[in-house]
Amino acid sequence: MAKENKRDGFGSKLGIIAAAAGSAIGLGNIYRFPCELGENGGAAFLLMYLGIVLFLGIPVMLSELVIGRHTLSNAVGAFKKLAPKSFWPFVGYMGVLCGLLIFAFYSTVSGWTLEYIVKAVTNSFHGKDLAAIEQDFNTFHESGWRNVLWQAIFIFLTGFVVFRGVQNGIEKFSKILMPLLLVILVVLGIRSVTLPGAKEGLAFLFKPDFSKITGKEVISAMGQVFFSLSMGMGVLVTYGSYVKKSDNLTTTALSVTLSDTLVAVLAGIVIFPAAFSFGIKPTAGMGLVFNTIPMIFNQMTGGYVFCIIFFVLLAIAALTSTISLLEVVVAYITEELHINRKKATIIACAVTVLMGAFASLSLMKDTPLVIAGHTVFDGLDFISSNIMLPIGGLLIVVFVGWRFGKKRFFAEVSNEGMLKAPLKSLIYFIIKYLAPLAIVLVFVSGLINR
Ligand code: PFF
Repeated sequence: MAKENKRDGFGSKLGIIAAAAGSAIGLGNIYRFPCELGENGGAAFLLMYLGIVLFLGIPVMLSELVIGRHTLSNAVGAFKKLAPKSFWPFVGYMGVLCGLLIFAFYSTVSGWTLEYIVKAVTNSFHGKDLAAIEQDFNTFHESGWRNVLWQAIFIFLTGFVVFRGVQNGIEKFSKILMPLLLVILVVLGIRSVTLPGAKEGLAFLFKPDFSKITGKEVISAMGQVFFSLSMGMGVLVTYGSYVKKSDNLTTTALSVTLSDTLVAVLAGIVIFPAAFSFGIKPTAGMGLVFNTIPMIFNQMTGGYVFCIIFFVLLAIAALTSTISLLEVVVAYITEELHINRKKATIIACAVTVLMGAFASLSLMKDTPLVIAGHTVFDGLDFISSNIMLPIGGLLIVVFVGWRFGKKRFFAEVSNEGMLKAPLKSLIYFIIKYLAPLAIVLVFVSGLINR
């Protein structure tokens, strides 16, 4: 617990890095990243993604952490403290809303990980060919009620951890299990690149062809960066507020960005060579990961055990992310609306179960839950990830650069002069001028080059 105040806090430096990395690393890396990469041009998307991470990752993440630790407040409270009676708390409100929207569709896919744990344990993939595995996935994700049930269970699990409070819940989960996930991804990656025909997949992943890139791909790449790094909606403001005054925020941002990007690239190396080898199209969307992974395990000695471990870890990676989504909402409700943690958690979870059911049911065959040609599931994903998060990120860097100011920023990243923080001037320059410009440029180019 932080000594400076009575709020719950992270116990150690590894604690905050583990928790922030736990939020960042999740289905966004292992499920959404391959989907987006597959649908948006392969290697060219990867290069844009890496460029945006390099350019925006540290500045935006650090801006959020600084605001959080400086104010020791939730996403809304932080802006209220720093800029009362202004437009700025809107950024926090948008973050809380965005947290709920993401939680609603993210929990659908999180629920799938539970179904797949059951499938793995009951050895239901064994001996099946691709057609059968695809059939299973389609039957399941179009089933409606089964999705809703798993989703509700997952939301309940998230609520349980968040209810127990920050240190006991979040920290413990993240510390041990995230490194284990990395190990299993490396094992899977080795199997994937040694499958016959894997080369084509590697070429898809690493040989860029920019002729296919339009505004849609650029916007998707930026959305994916914000989504994957959990930036732009106050998760890192909230987590920053639980960090000790003696922790180094710059190295925290650096470690989280690096580890998150490593896991995403690794997921690409696992999925694409194998997908090409089995004849699964990179544009397969939702089925890409959920069909490719069981197929790899079918080709592996010890595949049965590895498959169980993989889906358990994937579920936990999803859980450490949903915890952070819910925590933003719960921290806001408890601190701003003065409702106790238990009630706040129940309210937020109930709202998510309701909204999430619409997302899950919109995946059923012939569903009426379609708006402008998109399912509720896709619509929630698109609006929150590609629009709201980057706008949130834009407002946050503008706030730090132009309102919060250099003096307080330097004081916060150098722990009041205790740390050297050699990169602070460069990072501040990016925050103030380049990052806002870059985000606006991506939006404009996305609108023009459609
Ligand atoms: N970053 C998470 C992932 O990649 O799975 C998802 C996420 C969590 C997005 C928290 C946004 C957020 F605020």
